[in-house]
Amino acid sequence: MTVDTEFIPATSEAKPEHSPIDVSSKAFWAQTSEQRDERFARLRAEDPVSWQRPVEDAVAPDPNDPGYWAVTRHADIVKVSRDAKSFISGQGVLFDLLPPEFLEMSQSFLAMDAPRHDHLRKLVSSAFTPKRIQRIDEQIKVAAREVVDSFAADPSGEIEFVERCAEPLPVRLFCDMFGVPEEVRAQTAKSAGDVVSWADPERLGDRSPAEVTLEACQILHGIAGELTAERRKNPADDLFTSLVQAEVDGERLTDHDIGAFFTLLSVAGTDTTKHTSAFTVKAMTEFPDQRDWLRADFDGRIKTALEEFVRFASPVMTFRRTAVVETELAGRKIIPGDKVVLFYPSGNRDEDVFDEPERFDLSRDPNPHVGFGGGGLHFCLGNQLAKGALRALFSELLTRVPDFQAGEPDLLGTNFMRGVKRLPFTFTPEK
Ligand code: HEM
Repeated sequence: MTVDTEFIPATSEAKPEHSPIDVSSKAFWAQTSEQRDERFARLRAEDPVSWQRPVEDAVAPDPNDPGYWAVTRHADIVKVSRDAKSFISGQGVLFDLLPPEFLEMSQSFLAMDAPRHDHLRKLVSSAFTPKRIQRIDEQIKVAAREVVDSFAADPSGEIEFVERCAEPLPVRLFCDMFGVPEEVRAQTAKSAGDVVSWADPERLGDRSPAEVTLEACQILHGIAGELTAERRKNPADDLFTSLVQAEVDGERLTDHDIGAFFTLLSVAGTDTTKHTSAFTVKAMTEFPDQRDWLRADFDGRIKTALEEFVRFASPVMTFRRTAVVETELAGRKIIPGDKVVLFYPSGNRDEDVFDEPERFDLSRDPNPHVGFGGGGLHFCLGNQLAKGALRALFSELLTRVPDFQAGEPDLLGTNFMRGVKRLPFTFTPEK
């Protein structure tokens, strides 16, 4: 299935000079988030919607790419996100430029507009409602308990947190939901990570980003293809079965549609939650008073705290829209064809909205962060599931290994996902 919006060429109208406060360079994205935050703070103050040069060293460069508008203030991120009539997703949502076959295989309804987006989203929405998540709450708790069981009594009192704890929980929940068999779960998790690895030299090794990301998509489509064939023969109580039986606009979904769906959700549903839990254990190590505050009344306080986990981690850093009507944003004239990129971590550090934004404050309330997006049609479908998983995981960690200390994270180098590759984690072993 291709995106269902007519192609709008990039604008040829005269544009301002590219901003000297550059957020397109490779060097910018190789910095720590604290360093990037300084530049975002300057942009918010001096040029909140700035005209930027094209992404440096894009995976699939476009010689005709004139650049894009960088949206850095919270209010503007919300405005663009909620105005899907002026700012569409059907011409791509990724900040980096990637090969069209990759986008086709991996984006599904994330990169579509109404009405097709809404039809496809509806197909899976029922699996993600608060009621449904409450129903599987016990399953989520058991999964979190078993993940923590796997290391809590380890006499060394030391693990690599991402591999042993942060990754297994969301992968298991995602795979349970889709009915992915045990023997291909590890492969699913690895390929989901590879899909978003395009700017991470370690993950790429000596291969090109296009090669790694496309191969990962092909593997995920292969897994989806086998499961689709199997569920057509033997329906079960899982999302695959709902997808093979579903009709959209009077038509059954093709294998390719289901593969793209699976690929989108395998990334959206696993890496995001994984990185949020890694950044949160790190933040609790740096702000021990916040950990104590939460432990003092976990059940009463976790709902508020979860929003701060996501604001502080901001694992999804960028998504793009394309303007289809002339409009104005922070005094800038945006015209049809202009690319508009939303910088969520910048919105989440906007001092006009958050007091002391650099402080990890679990009692922050209200907390209108844009970690799950700025609202509107594409607002994160899995937000309830992510919060359910984080709640269950931290309930276990804070009761069973409450004195944990996270060391220095080894960060993922990309301009899309703010992530942790490895994180040393020590604790007093459970008796
Ligand atoms: C802490 C964890 C998570 C974060 C920070 C996160 C963040 C986001 C963001 C920023 C968007 C784009 C919103 C927009 O364009 O307005 C999004 C969309 C989406 N997320 Fe999440 N996400 C998380 C967890 C999950 C989980 C667990 C799932 C599913 C299992 C999921 C599924 C999706 C899907 C399907 C979309 C596309 C929705 C659409 O286009 O209609 N996410 N998420």
